[in-house]
Amino acid sequence: MAWLELDRLGLTEGSVRIIDAISLKVGAGRTAILGPNGAGKSSLLRLMHGLLRPSHGHLIWPQVLSQGMVFQRPVMLRTTALANVEYGLKLSGVSAQKRRARAAAALARVGMAELALRPARRLSGGEQQRVALARAWALEPEVLFLDEPTASLDPASSREVERIIHEIAAGGTRIVMTTHNLGQARRIAEEVIFIDGGRMLEQTPATTFFQQPQTVAARGFLQEETP
Ligand SMILES: Nc1ncnc2c1ncn2[C@@H]1O[C@H](COP(=O)(O)OP(=O)(O)O)[C@@H](O)[C@H]1O
Ligand SMILES: [Mg+2]
Repeated sequence: MAWLELDRLGLTEGSVRIIDAISLKVGAGRTAILGPNGAGKSSLLRLMHGLLRPSHGHLIWPQVLSQGMVFQRPVMLRTTALANVEYGLKLSGVSAQKRRARAAAALARVGMAELALRPARRLSGGEQQRVALARAWALEPEVLFLDEPTASLDPASSREVERIIHEIAAGGTRIVMTTHNLGQARRIAEEVIFIDGGRMLEQTPATTFFQQPQTVAARGFLQEETP
């Protein structure tokens, strides 16, 4: 069952077509949007999450689902990790008595309990990304959009973030993520959406995409990106 549909979705800036009439249905629990640099992955994700308004076409949400998003570079408020997570809960209307415990539990789930009272901006990149994941996860979104969540992290931090993504998905949250890391897409995604030049070229089960890419562009992409 599709939980999100794109109908000829387009985004233009001036005369530039950033997203070119993409129609697709997202029904998987864990979807990866793949494509070369500048393909339009981040723009497509922002359109899906409603951060950008489409120039053409539309999005269809068959049922209303709560959504969260985590960016490549987390934005941390100038306060503790715990207060960052609590603030997210406050914005969503969670009562003051419940915020502290929920924020602490979310930080514990991402392995950040001991660093909860550290100033968030002084944490390492990987730790900040975990706080960002806790901030999103604490709200228990039904859909979580992740834009290159490990792009600026070292391999150990990346693996930790992947573990957290798996856990979030295991709790029933639908994941849609962009990544340029093919190993990561293999480890996480059930389904792959491959885009290039703002167009969708393939949407297939992940195993099919990696074993038998259907388009020349995808074959080239896989060859270039495979070390
Ligand atoms: N606001 C904008 N105005 C003009 N061009 C943009 C804008 N945002 C993105 N682009 C261009 O659109 C293309 C897709 O960008 P992006 O979605 O960031 O790709 P990706 O995430 O796949 O690297 C790029 O060529 C980028 O330079
Ligand atoms: Mg991007």
